[in-house]
Amino acid sequence: MLTGKKIVLGVTGGIAVYKAVDLVSKLRKQGAEVRVVMTEHAQQFVTPLTFKEISGNQVAVSMWNANQEFNVEHIALADWADLFLVAPATANIIAKMAYGIADDLLSTTLLAAHSPIIVCPAMNTHMYENPATQENIAKLQSRGVVVMPPASGVLACGAVGAGRLPEPAGIVNFVKDFFAKAEGDMRGLKVLVTAAGTREPIDPVRYVGNRSSGKMGYSIAQAAAERGAEVTLVSGPSALVPPPNVKVVNVETTQEMMDACLAVYDNCDIVIKAAAVADYRPHDVAAQKIKKKTDDALTVVMDKNPDILKALGERKTKQFLVGFAAETQNLIDNAKEKIAKKNLDMIVANDVTMQGAGFGSETNIVKLIFPDGSIKELPQMAKSAVAEELLNTVMRLKK
Ligand code: PMT
Repeated sequence: MLTGKKIVLGVTGGIAVYKAVDLVSKLRKQGAEVRVVMTEHAQQFVTPLTFKEISGNQVAVSMWNANQEFNVEHIALADWADLFLVAPATANIIAKMAYGIADDLLSTTLLAAHSPIIVCPAMNTHMYENPATQENIAKLQSRGVVVMPPASGVLACGAVGAGRLPEPAGIVNFVKDFFAKAEGDMRGLKVLVTAAGTREPIDPVRYVGNRSSGKMGYSIAQAAAERGAEVTLVSGPSALVPPPNVKVVNVETTQEMMDACLAVYDNCDIVIKAAAVADYRPHDVAAQKIKKKTDDALTVVMDKNPDILKALGERKTKQFLVGFAAETQNLIDNAKEKIAKKNLDMIVANDVTMQGAGFGSETNIVKLIFPDGSIKELPQMAKSAVAEELLNTVMRLKK
């Protein structure tokens, strides 16, 4: 997937520089051509010769090198790149990028870059969490720089927390996903997404519903459309503005959602059911508003609704079928049971009691669970980032 891609790798001074050597090797094995730019501090950890041998290209280290490969090195490298990757990226280079400081070859080349830029921060946890670093990262993101979150664990300095450079294989996957998305990897695919909650009427003014805002499902629909898919979004009532380039089918009840899904299902390649669906509906829907009575209690008898996802699982042919599991206890066991019962290819499990997860929030905390029992745990992320990661995983597994 990286065949012919030209990647400039900026290497800055941190202990994780040793991982960048393996990263170059892995990028080349995927077919990329890599040119390395090292800061002076990075050369304290690994020599340019190592990167020269592993990349098969001269390594750029200084603005003032008389033997440099190109005439105006920083401009030539910036023009050459399909992608500029900075790994490991210290707090220092992130700050310089945020403020447009150009005081060495790497920072100057970054300022001249007009290709996409991916930054992989790697530093001590406190440095990473420092508001100065976080503000600088946010500033870069607001300008379109893509930031790969660091891994967590025991760091070289002994601290425990976020700040570790992800493993080279993970960075290569991140780069591949980036190009896939940029090139519209879902073009030609028909995707059905459900979102928001269904409502079951009790009388003309009341209903049984739930707290789903639609944010999770709308984010997935938007991400899939941006990657070129033909998206149908079947949505329960939601205050959100539907994403552009998506066909929206508005529904209210579970039965309406079922009918809308079945109408398009057979032609779909990927189905993602993020909607929170009412399992029960009132047996009788009053024709008039129910009046307050003298009794203290009102009993509403409920009938079971169809399980839409189970029905889709039963008639699955080519579809890659993804369910969600909103749980308040026994997250993994309950989610695994749903994979089997509904014939799913993957389930996205969220413990909706956690702060920053589930209904209404801007972020979610999910575990992707697969039929073989394996689990991919994601940290707390914006729902838009969860959507991207979910689609990356689907696209990898679908092949
Ligand atoms: O909309 P947000 O505010 O952003 O909130 C997101 C969310 C919490 C709604 C979302 O992340 C989520 O968890 N959605 C699934 C909610 C749900 O109904 O979970 P469940 O465990 O009850 O159902 C399991 C799966 O079966 C779901 O994919 C559901 O769509 C589907 N289902 C459930 C019942 C039913 N009768 N028919 C179904 O298709």
